[in-house]
Amino acid sequence: MTLKIVPMTAAHINEVVQIQAEAFTPDLRETPEVFANRIARFGEFFRVAYLNGRMVGYVVAFPWKFGDAPVNNQKFPEELPEPDCFFIHDIALLPDARGSGVARALLEDAYQTALKLGFDAASLVAVGQSGNYWDRVGFVPNAHVTETKRAYILDIYGPGARLMARPI
Ligand SMILES: CC(C)(COP(=O)(O)OP(=O)(O)OC[C@H]1O[C@@H](n2cnc3c(N)ncnc32)[C@H](O)[C@@H]1OP(=O)(O)O)[C@@H](O)C(=O)NCCC(=O)NCCS
Repeated sequence: MTLKIVPMTAAHINEVVQIQAEAFTPDLRETPEVFANRIARFGEFFRVAYLNGRMVGYVVAFPWKFGDAPVNNQKFPEELPEPDCFFIHDIALLPDARGSGVARALLEDAYQTALKLGFDAASLVAVGQSGNYWDRVGFVPNAHVTETKRAYILDIYGPGARLMARPI
């Protein structure tokens, strides 16, 4: 098994959205235009994974504000928040590549990027469909979320969505 992890570029978008379509329900998907906008801002931190020469997964992660989350499927605002953590916005694998250690390798890559950028924590929104996956890989619910923020997260990311974090 040969695993290769490389930075995501605009040239990868078509394949990435196909993986996304196999991994997420329609309400959670992002358009190619939104991917292009995210790559233009932070693409150097995103990764795609090739298993035996085939793209099987990706991770989209960028500096963000702890306790906050960008709006899904919407381009970044002109002015970004003052970052203090590394936000794992999206990670997905093709179904037949799961359970192979690729997700762990993509997460480890993201943690290393975060450390290089000087962050000591990762945060994310665990969507309902990811079940207890994030609990299993060391994330805990962010205890300092206001009711307003919780309602915002549920509104954008759907039922069961939770803001979570873990130290790196
Ligand atoms: C989330 C994802 C990237 C994890 O990849 P993976 O290859 O399944 O991850 P791992 O094999 O490292 O999984 C670790 C454990 O979590 C479990 N797990 C994975 N997804 C799970 C889910 N949705 N619910 C409950 N457990 C899950 C795995 O079964 C595994 O259990 P084990 O250690 O007992 O074998 C992949 O399942 C995926 O693409 N899911 C769809 C997209 C998604 O939900 N992304 C996360 C939200 S951003």
